[in-house]
This record gives sequence, structure tokens and C-alpha cells, in this order.
Amino acid sequence: MHGSIMKQQLSELFHRRYACHAFEPGRAVAGADLEFILEAGRLSPSSFGLEHWKFLVVQSPELKQALQAACFQQQQVGSAGAVIVILAKLAELQPDSSYVRKLMEREYPAEQRAQALDNYRSFHAATDVRAWSVSQCHIAAANMMLAATAVGLDSCAIGGFLPDQVKQILDIDPAQYEVALILPVGHCAEKPHEKRRLPLAELVEYR
Ligand SMILES: Cc1cc2nc3c(=O)[nH]c(=O)nc-3n(C[C@H](O)[C@H](O)[C@H](O)COP(=O)(O)O)c2cc1C
Repeated sequence: MHGSIMKQQLSELFHRRYACHAFEPGRAVAGADLEFILEAGRLSPSSFGLEHWKFLVVQSPELKQALQAACFQQQQVGSAGAVIVILAKLAELQPDSSYVRKLMEREYPAEQRAQALDNYRSFHAATDVRAWSVSQCHIAAANMMLAATAVGLDSCAIGGFLPDQVKQILDIDPAQYEVALILPVGHCAEKPHEKRRLPLAELVEYR
């Protein structure tokens, strides 16, 4: 695709995406569209290439209602066609886990692997692993929201939830995962609101 067309389309997507606060209830999301969104998450970049995410796709009306209650009754959760719960890996990120070994083998040639693992071990020991893992999932979420816009769907990132309650509803082992973000997607029932952003001049400093 010609560069300027791609740029224009990407810019359009950035402007078109907005946080939807109420979806058309009962309107399902097509499986192919869901897969496109999940694929955008899968292809996202992550620290050490460790793909910190797991995606739970919730479509059962009962589970969506239960999740809404765990999200301070925000109605976009219960009304969405699908609710993607993004889980951040915890236990699998331990330097000696079989998961880390598998991905290190994929990421690094044999002669660099021991050094890479040593570096990772030092990094892991010095890092707030939970916050680090959640922040990787937020990168995937941003890509997924844009992908939803590209297939004509709306979304709303939901950070306002009670993690323990969400884990209980979805039977998540707290040693394995933290809840990173809840991402309802569907067809918005309200008009898009105007973009409100600070000007670049206020946000950028060149040195
Ligand atoms: C990490 C994160 C958490 C958010 N949590 C909520 C939330 O719990 N409820 C909500 O209505 N919107 C939530 N939002 C949406 C923001 O309020 C919204 O993106 C922001 O106001 C900018 O508006 P826009 O997305 O329509 O451009 C969240 C956004 C992000 C990135």
C-alpha cells in the first residue's frame, strides 16, 4: 500500500476510536472480527518478547453481568457483544519456568541464550513484575482497540474493576495471573464524542 494512504488511514483510525460507554445490548460480535482484534493483541510487542498476555473472551450473558458488577456497574461491560479480559502472566515469568526457557530458545541463538537468561534473571529480581507484566498487556490493548475500530467496532478500555472479584468470577489463579485490563467490544449505542486532547506543544519538549 502506498505510504501516504496508509498514513491517512491510520490517522483516521486514531481519530475515529473513542471510549464507548454503552453498547447495543444483545448485538453479537462476528467471530472473524473478534479474531482480527485478538490477532492485533498477539502481534503486539513485549519486553524480552515474553508475550505477557492471555486473552479471555467472555460472551456468556451471565458472566458479562457478573463482570459488570465487578466493574462498579459500568454498563458498557454488560452490554458489549464480547468482553475481552486481558490477563497478565505472573508465575510463568519466573526465570526458571519452562515458559521462559521456551521463549528464550525462540528469541536467542544458542550461544547467546545463557547470557540473555542471566540478564533476564537480574532484571526480574529488580523489577515490580506485576506492574511490568500489566504494562505489556496495556500495549496489546491499545493495538486491539485500534483493530476494533478498523473492523467497524467500538470498544472501551476498563481499568475500573475489582481485581479479586474478577478473578473469582472467572476462576483465575492469582499466582498465575493478574487482571490487566477489561476490554468490552461491540456496536456502540451512543454517538462518538469529540476528541479532547492537549496540544502537542504542551506535551513535547525537543532537546
Ligand atoms: C487503562 C485505561 C483504563 C480506562 N478505564 C476506564 C473505565 O474504567 N471506565 C471508562 O468509562 N473509561 C475508561 N477508560 C477510557 C478513558 O476514559 C478514555 O480513553 C479517555 O477519556 C479518552 O477518551 P477517548 O478514548 O474517547 O478518546 C480507560 C482508558 C484506559 C487507557
